[in-house]
Amino acid sequence: MGQHIILIGFMGAGKTTVGRRLAALLGRELLDTDQQIERQAGMTINRIFETEGEASFRRRETEALRRLADRKEPAVISAGGGLPLREENREVLKTLGLTVYLRVRPETVLQRLEGDHTRPLLAGEHPEETVRRLLEERGGIYAMAASLTADTDGKSPEAIAEEIRGAMENGKGGEAVEDFGD
Ligand code: S3P
Repeated sequence: MGQHIILIGFMGAGKTTVGRRLAALLGRELLDTDQQIERQAGMTINRIFETEGEASFRRRETEALRRLADRKEPAVISAGGGLPLREENREVLKTLGLTVYLRVRPETVLQRLEGDHTRPLLAGEHPEETVRRLLEERGGIYAMAASLTADTDGKSPEAIAEEIRGAMENGKGGEAVEDFGD
C-alpha cells in the first residue's frame, strides 16, 4: 500500500484547506485532483461541465487519479467531492494510502460555499436541497471509501490536520471505519 494521505468528502468539507495545513505539518506536497484536471484540460471545472458535460469531467477525474497513483513521493491528496463515487476510483484509492473522510453538515457546506460560483453541481435554483440530497446519497459511500472519518463542523483546519496526524502516529487507519471526531 502506498503512503499518500487522501482527503475525501463533500464540497466545502475543507479538503483543500485542511490538506494545505496537513501537508505543511508533514512536510509534504499537496496535490489536488481538481487542479490537476484544470491544468491538464486548460479549462476551469465550470467550463468542462459546460462544454463537455459531467460524464467527461468524471473520465478526466479518473485519469487524474491514475496519474497521481504513479507518484512515488508521499503526498497529501485532496480529492474532488465526487471522486469516490466511482467504484473504479475507490479501487485506486485503496492502493494509494490512507483515505480520510472529512464529514460535514449541510448547514456548514451552505455557509462556507455562499457566494461561491466554482461548483457547477450547486449552481441550480435550490442549492440547499441539492446539498442535502447529495450528502444523503454520498455519505455512506464516503464512509465506505475511507479508513478514518473526521467530523469537521466547528473545528479549525489546524485542529483537524492535527487530529489526522495524531491518528497516523497512533497507527490508526486499518480496515475499519473509525471515528475520532466528536
Ligand atoms: C464535485 C466537487 C468539486 C469538483 C466538481 C464536482 C462533486 O470538488 O470536483 O465541481 O461532484 O462533489 P470539491 O469537492 O473540491 O469542491
